[in-house]
Amino acid sequence: MEQYIIKGGKALQGEVSIGGAKNAALGIIAAAIMTDETVTIDNLPDIRDINVLLQAIEEIGAKVERVNKHTVKINGKNIDSISIDYEFIRKIRASYYLLGALLGKYKRAQVALPGGCNIGSRPIDQHIKGFEALGASVRIEHGMIEAEAVELMGNHIYLDMASVGATINIMLAACLADGQTILENSAKEPHIVDVANFLNSMGANIKGAGTDVIRIKGVKALKGSEYAIIPDQIEAGTFMLAAAATKGNVLIKNVIPKHLEAITAKLVEVGVTVEEYDDAVRVISTKRLGHAHIKTLPYPGFPTDMQPQMTALLAMSQGTSIVTESIFENRFKYVDELSRMGASIKVEGNTAIIDGVKGLTGAIVSAPDLRAGAALVIAGLVAEGFTFVEQVEYIERGYEDFERKMQSIGASMEKIDVEDEKAIRKFKLRVS
Ligand code: UD1
Repeated sequence: MEQYIIKGGKALQGEVSIGGAKNAALGIIAAAIMTDETVTIDNLPDIRDINVLLQAIEEIGAKVERVNKHTVKINGKNIDSISIDYEFIRKIRASYYLLGALLGKYKRAQVALPGGCNIGSRPIDQHIKGFEALGASVRIEHGMIEAEAVELMGNHIYLDMASVGATINIMLAACLADGQTILENSAKEPHIVDVANFLNSMGANIKGAGTDVIRIKGVKALKGSEYAIIPDQIEAGTFMLAAAATKGNVLIKNVIPKHLEAITAKLVEVGVTVEEYDDAVRVISTKRLGHAHIKTLPYPGFPTDMQPQMTALLAMSQGTSIVTESIFENRFKYVDELSRMGASIKVEGNTAIIDGVKGLTGAIVSAPDLRAGAALVIAGLVAEGFTFVEQVEYIERGYEDFERKMQSIGASMEKIDVEDEKAIRKFKLRVS
């Protein structure tokens, strides 16, 4: 079992480059199997979630050729199964995008039903409602969702909530339906636009992605394409907050500053300077930061996937901050870990009340999920002494070369096996 060991207290300095968006890549890989022609996807992040989804499509017969670390060629011509089993869905929920993709292409799909997860129960009723509106019959049996249609027909669908997953899944299936689908109250996240742009590059006819009404005119077939994925908003935001929390000065390259506006606005509010360039942002922080009130909301609001990192930053800021989580019911589990580092945070329902403390102290903590893990790393970068973040496999689901990128901007952070006492001692000696 590996852990990150961090010696806190160094201001991050320098430049770091952001990789492709995980959540866009998950939708795009599923979409790629919807044509019999070859698709080339570039700027793919080399992270666990993506590699598992690539394995899942290989398992059902797709040809996956890794051209290099960040480029893959996919050919879905020889797919010979429409069934994705629990092994994959257990590792990444987003393998349920294969439901929409397979249903669209083969009019049949069978995917294991995702269970709850560390951030709360995550129903998929809206996905199912969408498939049914397109004419599929959907059954849940033996832990599997089976969707099947003689023909998919476009329809008018109104989502009860702006769900990212349901928007993408319905968009996938509707691309190859007969006639027009109008998807109202759709989610507007940048990765939805990216999946739509990719599908359009394959010959789909999708308009309005990025607004709350998406219109999809079904086409007969999709074709091959070459596509580069957008930069990851959350990876970028995480490095912005790490720079801010450590009183650093970091240029974060290969980003779309517009996607970072909600994060930038909050950083500016607490006293950070953020300079925006065409495809980069520089974050400069020189003093103890102030407090802020934050509520997570669907895009363009403050992203729930940045909530833990922001809470970690506010835990060390001056004054009382209030963070309200409005998307997921159980996303404050990591707060106990931050408290072990000296943070003063009280959680009441979906609200965290944070009394900023002057400093944190290093401790052994455990990442309960991906973004909470990143928050603990940010805390460790500031804390006095050594922080040991266990369960790094969660963090590696979404951050490529996290420790190496952090090292490149000056962090004293290494990934070492928990049992490797010699390496731990060596690291401690080197950075002390
Ligand atoms: C996606 C992201 C995740 C991010 C989240 C919110 C991917 C792979 N994951 O997750 O990183 O945190 O968006 O930005 O892109 N809901 C229902 N019924 C449904 C679907 C959703 O009640 O059928 C609820 C959920 O429980 C949640 C809210 O709607 O409270 C939003 O969920 P959704 O946008 O679907 O999140 P995901 O697509 O799972």
